Amino acid sequence: MKHGVVTGSSRGIGLATVELLTKQSGFKVIGSSTSGNNPLDNSNFKCFKLNLANSDSITEFVEDLEDVKLDFIVNNAGILLEKWDASAINMKELKQTFDTNVFGTIEMTEMLIPRLNSKAHIINITSDWGSFSEQNFDAFQPHYKMSKAALNMYTKLLSKRLEEKHIKVSSLDPGWTQTDMGGKVAPRLPKDVAADILNLLNDDVESGQFWHQGNVRAW
Ligand SMILES: NC(=O)c1ccc[n+]([C@@H]2O[C@H](COP(=O)([O-])OP(=O)(O)OC[C@H]3O[C@@H](n4cnc5c(N)ncnc54)[C@H](OP(=O)(O)O)[C@@H]3O)[C@@H](O)[C@H]2O)c1
Repeated sequence: MKHGVVTGSSRGIGLATVELLTKQSGFKVIGSSTSGNNPLDNSNFKCFKLNLANSDSITEFVEDLEDVKLDFIVNNAGILLEKWDASAINMKELKQTFDTNVFGTIEMTEMLIPRLNSKAHIINITSDWGSFSEQNFDAFQPHYKMSKAALNMYTKLLSKRLEEKHIKVSSLDPGWTQTDMGGKVAPRLPKDVAADILNLLNDDVESGQFWHQGNVRAW
């Protein structure tokens, strides 16, 4: 039985991921939402309250896990505060974005590292919008793009740090996906990304890579 955490499991990609994982035999999943509620009702699933922008909430979430050892963490929760055509830096929004997408995600991950089993896998959900190789790069969504670029660097650093423990760390670019964040006309569905995440968890992949639809992509 593999035990793991998927943050932001109340909707979108996170919800599709916990739905898919708990349909497989051999997965027990702890999800999170800012309210503590979750639409999924499954005996292999529990959801706890987590606000990544608040250190006390992160500590309480980790305490809620009790003494469970983990085989995977999917750092999926994230925010995109900017309008689609916003390119100016707004310091309040930049800090808010980093609080959740970077600082909170890293704070929680660091608290969970001592509970990881050997051969565990940490998957950071980042984005093409956090890459330095994006085609059609533009000046929009600067806060979000910088936050995902920082998380990609955390993936690379952590994969080196945890190499000797045989713990894998990956970034995954879901592609533009139909969710509250991605909107209704995006080409990918949350279940497509959930399948990518499941494959990444099941496959014996090289650590420290950036994945998109089952292939390694450029940072
Ligand atoms: N959709 C896309 O096109 C796309 C493309 C590239 C990358 N991504 C990335 O994929 C991931 C999932 O995105 P999505 O499209 O599924 O987003 P979504 O539908 O907006 O869902 C976001 C999830 O994150 C949680 N969350 C938001 N703020 C949080 C906080 N402060 N603390 C803890 N949890 C928080 C939400 O919980 P509540 O329900 O409680 O608010 C929700 O479960 C994100 O990291 C996103 O950046 C998405």
